[in-house]
Amino acid sequence: MTISREGTNLDPWYGHYADRTSGLSASEVRALFAVASRPEVVSLAGGMPYVSALPLPTITESMDRVMRDRGATALQYGSGQGTPELREHILEIMALEGIRAGVDDVVVTTGSQQALDLVAKLFLDPGDVVLAESPSYVGAMGIFRSYQAEVAHIAMDADGMIPAALTERIASLRAAGKRLKLLYLIPNFHNPAGVTLSSARRLEIIDIARSAGILILEDNPYGLLWFDRPAPAAMRSVETDGIVYLGSFSKTLAPGFRVGWALAPHAIREKLVLAAEAAILSPSSLNQMVISDYLDQADWRGQIDVFRGLYRERRDAMIEALEQYLPDLSWTMPNGGFYVWVTLTDGLDSKAMLPRAVKELVAYTPGTAFFADGSGRGHLRLAFCYPPPAEIREGIRRLATVVRGEQELLETFSPTGPITAVAYDPHVASPPPNLS
Ligand SMILES: Cc1ncc(COP(=O)(O)O)c(C=O)c1O
Repeated sequence: MTISREGTNLDPWYGHYADRTSGLSASEVRALFAVASRPEVVSLAGGMPYVSALPLPTITESMDRVMRDRGATALQYGSGQGTPELREHILEIMALEGIRAGVDDVVVTTGSQQALDLVAKLFLDPGDVVLAESPSYVGAMGIFRSYQAEVAHIAMDADGMIPAALTERIASLRAAGKRLKLLYLIPNFHNPAGVTLSSARRLEIIDIARSAGILILEDNPYGLLWFDRPAPAAMRSVETDGIVYLGSFSKTLAPGFRVGWALAPHAIREKLVLAAEAAILSPSSLNQMVISDYLDQADWRGQIDVFRGLYRERRDAMIEALEQYLPDLSWTMPNGGFYVWVTLTDGLDSKAMLPRAVKELVAYTPGTAFFADGSGRGHLRLAFCYPPPAEIREGIRRLATVVRGEQELLETFSPTGPITAVAYDPHVASPPPNLS
């Protein structure tokens, strides 16, 4: 079969793809993760919520009730914007983080991942720049890349994005003639850095974005999963016109429903609905109705407390194991969410080390996944959400074996002689992270 001169034996359509597909690449670590999902491997890699802690009989009752009482509606197409009942519930949930909005301002999406895609589709032309934390969420960067946009990382520390670094970067990118379109932030319990943007910085960053005329995209799937104290109020609670806010049921309920939402200023919201209709016609009526029923009937706030307790215990297990087995590394101290961001000792390479870790039956995500330019070899992300505490401890013990092996290799072959490890000071509760 001859289709095109540019085709190859492997793919006869090779020369036909749109330019934007050049950004679609399988993660280099995808094949390894297939191995890492074997039961004997302790996976500290994926951000999978611990759905086994959900009240499955209660959710089953909701499903039964929806099908029994309103089955024909549940199985039908619905509104492109989502059901009014679920949007009312979403307002109630967002109020917990200080957000006041109207039911018309909310668009229900197929996970917040689809909301990210729709916002990118509305705003990004090839060559446009998205400002994002350094590091940033791998799934968002994949979307920005698929619209041929560039990601410019802004330095962070233990209090989140550094406002002065943002101001400087905006000026230098503008001087270079770049079009800056979005400022993408995960203010609470950051994926992958684990840190939370301080309330003072939230206000500063809103001011900077407002005066630079850049739309903020506030992505907040983890905000309600705090451990010791609630996160500061959402950025959207103090600024309405310059922010598109994204929420999700994936981490506080279950990702299998694939239900999230966007809250946007009026004009953007109208375009979001049109874009959503073009993409999927309407989000799943059945899943929205089941979630609404669950929120009406179940103690969903109590269930979020259950998750918070469970993840706090796992965070503690991970931090204690890191202190015990890997005291010469440094890491962030998350006050919620799923992730710890680890900084390796000089010379170690998280990407090169991963196959050896999987051989030792432990998996993590190398730092390179979270930087648009593939840097980040000196870091790795550990997720504490899925394995129980004993497994987390065993996983960190295995990781320590791998890290020690790598450090010994480096010492042996280092031209400058053995490397001295920096002593960890247990009096410093959270060692200063270097996230830039
Ligand atoms: C920061 C962030 N945003 C968005 C998502 C997408 O979530 P979902 O599409 O399941 O709502 C994730 C999932 O891990 C995430 O960590």
